[in-house]
Amino acid sequence: MAITIKSAREIELMRESCRLLAIVHKELEEAIKPGMTTMDIDVMGDGLIRKLGGIPNFKNYQGYPASICTSVNNEVVHGIPSKHRVLQEGDIISLDAGLIYKGYHSDAARTHGVGKISPEAQKLIDVTRQSFFEGVKMAKAGGHLHDISNAIDAYVSGFGYGIVRELIGHGIGTSLHEAPEIPNFAQRRKGPKLAAGMTLAVEPMINMGRADVEWLDDDWTVVTADGSLSAHYENTILITDGEPEILTLY
Ligand code: MF3
Ligand code: CO
Repeated sequence: MAITIKSAREIELMRESCRLLAIVHKELEEAIKPGMTTMDIDVMGDGLIRKLGGIPNFKNYQGYPASICTSVNNEVVHGIPSKHRVLQEGDIISLDAGLIYKGYHSDAARTHGVGKISPEAQKLIDVTRQSFFEGVKMAKAGGHLHDISNAIDAYVSGFGYGIVRELIGHGIGTSLHEAPEIPNFAQRRKGPKLAAGMTLAVEPMINMGRADVEWLDDDWTVVTADGSLSAHYENTILITDGEPEILTLY
């Protein structure tokens, strides 16, 4: 599939979809506290998305049963919300959320600390976030897609963390997942040329230990193979002729 170039009208709808998603993420971040269950987060996020006029795009996506992916500690992504999973002080939790607004998808993820967390966990969260920004510095029309991948890898490698390879970023628009695939690790090829009007979800997933991951028996939850902590940071961005626009920031 070719990479779609959004028209001015489509870009406006992407901006609005992403603006609404940013509101959802901000409210969820403010709500996170010890004693909450991951199901509480899903119920709140689902309600917010609908109140804002969006449709949760993860719900029932290939059978995924919830609106917000809640991944705690060694869970990398796609954790399934549960009323039995109670957040404890010191946990870290990755929230991945998305919505559809007037047919246009948005997608973003953040990792938050629950109460007071260790300096090591905070550093993992900070480096994961910064790796996104290092990658996105390269996201310019006329450049190549894998400039983003290479920049993320170059930054993260210096910390000795493991970059998840099995899961990657993606184009986004009238579908949640469009071309191109966006790896977060160094590539030998340049990849496709970037052009103004492309909308991309760039989403590094970084493990404190080894890069390897496994899937739990629920068929969704991805965990680190060595049990180490993992963080995720994702925004939907727009390629322009100048600096990229990060559409899901708050
Ligand atoms: N943000 C995830 C992604 O980019 C979407 C989660 S897929 C779901 O792939 F099925 F878990 F919803
Ligand atoms: Co995504």
